[in-house]
Amino acid sequence: MKFALTALAAVAAASPIFEQETFNSEPGFSLDLNAQRLVQLEGQPPVWMTELDKIKAKAQNIKFFDITDTQDLESFAATSHVKFEFPATPTATDKVTSVIKTLSTKGPRANLEKFSSFRTRYYRSDTGKDSQQWLLSKIQDITKSASSSLKELVNLSEFSHSWGQNSIILSINGSTTPDEVVIVSAHQDSTNMWPFLPAPGADDDGSGTVTILEAYRALVAADFKPERTVQFHWYSAEEGGLLGSQAVAKEYAARSVKVVAMNQFDMTAWVKKGTREEAGIITDFVNEDLTAFNKKLVDTYLDIPYVETKCGYACSDHASWGKAGYASGFTIESSFENSNHYIHSANDRIDISEEFSFTHMLEFSKLAVAFAIELGGWA
Ligand code: BES
Ligand code: ZN
Repeated sequence: MKFALTALAAVAAASPIFEQETFNSEPGFSLDLNAQRLVQLEGQPPVWMTELDKIKAKAQNIKFFDITDTQDLESFAATSHVKFEFPATPTATDKVTSVIKTLSTKGPRANLEKFSSFRTRYYRSDTGKDSQQWLLSKIQDITKSASSSLKELVNLSEFSHSWGQNSIILSINGSTTPDEVVIVSAHQDSTNMWPFLPAPGADDDGSGTVTILEAYRALVAADFKPERTVQFHWYSAEEGGLLGSQAVAKEYAARSVKVVAMNQFDMTAWVKKGTREEAGIITDFVNEDLTAFNKKLVDTYLDIPYVETKCGYACSDHASWGKAGYASGFTIESSFENSNHYIHSANDRIDISEEFSFTHMLEFSKLAVAFAIELGGWA
């Protein structure tokens, strides 16, 4: 999002704390603005800069990966790639159709009302830690409702990070090829352009978070027992430069985990006034075969058509998996141009306009269910 630096400076100047020379953080945050980070700006060699300079870069619409803890991620690319042929057509149509019929906007609406009510889900904030714990408890609740035989296959864990808010990993162990993994993901953190300000993050990415949670709920209710291992990931610190997903991808690559496919859901709720309702399929920084397969899933299972679109940069967590050598994809609410322009502001709310649509979001829960069943298998 474009945001003039002058506006950022105005915000900073308006904050009395900012004028103190010793200013480097605020209560409720463990963000040291003077801390040094290794940052890789688009197509350039990595450079060391302060957290404050990183924030300024983001405000100037400069795109980057923060690689302080994951400098060697690319070195795994040669060995981690899994040779996998995506099916020519969807094959589990009866099963997918029966599960997507049970999807509802009820859970997503209630969950998103709560999730976007935390002042911010910034990954270095106390409320960001609270929102993560709340999300974890919702995933636990769903897991408790599983049949006892399904429960035995499920493993829920926190992937710890140094900054406070942890990533969450939910795994349903595969019955026949458990070493092959299919990942459905979203990022749980939010941010304002100036990170100390409120960031409800309803669309970015509260929407993706509850979209995949609803998919998980429906799969559990249907007693889904996949052949491959199917996982749901809710990443921390996407907004800080894809930090959480790079840490998780690095750990998987280092363990030579065979991830056959990863698909990111980041922003799923917005239908711009006067536009046709569509499912955006991102075509840059993604795996081509996986992307072609996603188009078939949209054609087969969604009530809206897809539109191909580009971010133009490594815009979300799928890029971390791509960097590690895995096949990853990204599906989004619309074309890049028609996406929600309130993101990274206090106006990224569910009640800002009727353009925020829970039925649109539900189309993406269908896609997540289809992705999990078609690629995970279900004997
Ligand atoms: N959800 C956005 C990416 C996005 C924005 C996709 C608009 C499509 C339309 C994501 O959370 C984000 O803000 N990404 C950062 C880049 C990241 C590497 C820090 C961005 O776009 O500035
Ligand atoms: Zn996002």
